[in-house]
Amino acid sequence: MNRLVVVSNRVPLPSSGQQAGGLAVALDGLMEKRGGLWFGWSGSISDGPTAALARVESAGAVDYATVDLTQEEHDRYYNNFSNGVLWPLLHTMPELMRFDRRDARVYQDVNSRLAASLQPLLRPSDLIWVHDYHLLLLPAALRARGVKNPIGFFLHIPFASPDVLGAAPEVAGLVRDLLAADLIGFQTDNDMANFAAAAQCLAGAVRVSSSALMVSGRRVRLGVFPVEIEAHAFARMAAEMERAEGCERLRRSLQGQRLILGIDRLDPTKGLIQRLAGYRRLLEKHEDLRRRVTMLQIAPVSRKDVGSYQKLRGTLDHDAGELNADLGEADWVPLRMISRATVRPAVAGYMRLARVGLVTPLRDGMNLVAKEYVAAQNPQDPGVLVLSRFAGAARQMDAALLVNPHDADAMADALDTALRMDLAERQARWRALWAAIEHRSPVIWGRSFVATLLRATDPEARARRT
Ligand code: G6P
Repeated sequence: MNRLVVVSNRVPLPSSGQQAGGLAVALDGLMEKRGGLWFGWSGSISDGPTAALARVESAGAVDYATVDLTQEEHDRYYNNFSNGVLWPLLHTMPELMRFDRRDARVYQDVNSRLAASLQPLLRPSDLIWVHDYHLLLLPAALRARGVKNPIGFFLHIPFASPDVLGAAPEVAGLVRDLLAADLIGFQTDNDMANFAAAAQCLAGAVRVSSSALMVSGRRVRLGVFPVEIEAHAFARMAAEMERAEGCERLRRSLQGQRLILGIDRLDPTKGLIQRLAGYRRLLEKHEDLRRRVTMLQIAPVSRKDVGSYQKLRGTLDHDAGELNADLGEADWVPLRMISRATVRPAVAGYMRLARVGLVTPLRDGMNLVAKEYVAAQNPQDPGVLVLSRFAGAARQMDAALLVNPHDADAMADALDTALRMDLAERQARWRALWAAIEHRSPVIWGRSFVATLLRATDPEARARRT
């Protein structure tokens, strides 16, 4: 079996004990099962010049090779360009974008430096799998160093339409360099179609089939690979954690009220302001629900050096305070908000307790919280998922109550429907949602990507096509 080399900006180093984002959650299981090399940023910032060689540590079958970033690289490559330009742009929120050419240059330099540190670790039969928007230039940077191995790329976040992309100068170069990969994977067919259109109009690619492009005489395969969760394992964890002390305390504190739960990184794409507006509208329209519901929003602070995130924190704190002050009572607080990270097992227990899982991003590549909420439910008495139609997950989970997160009334109506839904309908919807996730897993997802990469780069299969 060829060794799998995963490259991502974040590497969940076993020694760091850091909380995992969506990407690491998806890849962890695959890497544990398959083994291989995981390469990327160490999560540390070095004071002096960075070492050319990666540091390697091993855990089980996985070797982790990481490099530090300098302060300037962290500011310009990670904060400013990846999270201040590419993240809002690809989520179709270009108004949040802050473009500066110096950041674009450092982004390019970091991609080249990572390619230079990775190259000496590569073996001829390795399969290279690059992840996410921080590393759009890495496939071309590796090719420029003569790396001939198969290279796959997977984008965990959405891909915007070409006219939105045009808002960022120099974006054509990003699309062109990404096309140095042999397989480019997306969460949804919409993202893939947007990329294919961008490749044609910005990089001169020619579409030869629904899932293949020709670029300078090379064939580039495109594919849709929705990220999945380990549904059964998550369900077991939720059932166990429901009996844990922390969860019991939460249950007692609710005193019979129904819990509406939101779990998101504090991020402008997650629609947190709109979510509070929807909840507020619910309580204004349905006075009988006051004192009978509580909303818990866990929104751990994320990317705190990026301006739009700082601004969001201020607005959210303001709106949350106002909601509680306007609608709360001496003995009832409508909204509880936590901006610290909460560990996954505890979250799983809370999810099982919640009557409503409120997942309403303005746009999201997939959103694994939606899938986790479903997995966490007690099949005998399941809660209801209220899901934004702009999350990738909505394409697989149409048995949820799908909402437009910009429409506070629609959100209030969906919440009201969810809170009053009878057991039979809750069970029927839950069964349909569970069926959409139960036979899938990150391991199956990863294997299917790797198998497609192998097929796309198999010389015999290539010869047959030409
Ligand atoms: C999303 C992205 C990941 C990222 C994660 C956490 O899931 O797709 O690439 O790692 O958010 O964000 P952070 O900036 O903390 O790595």
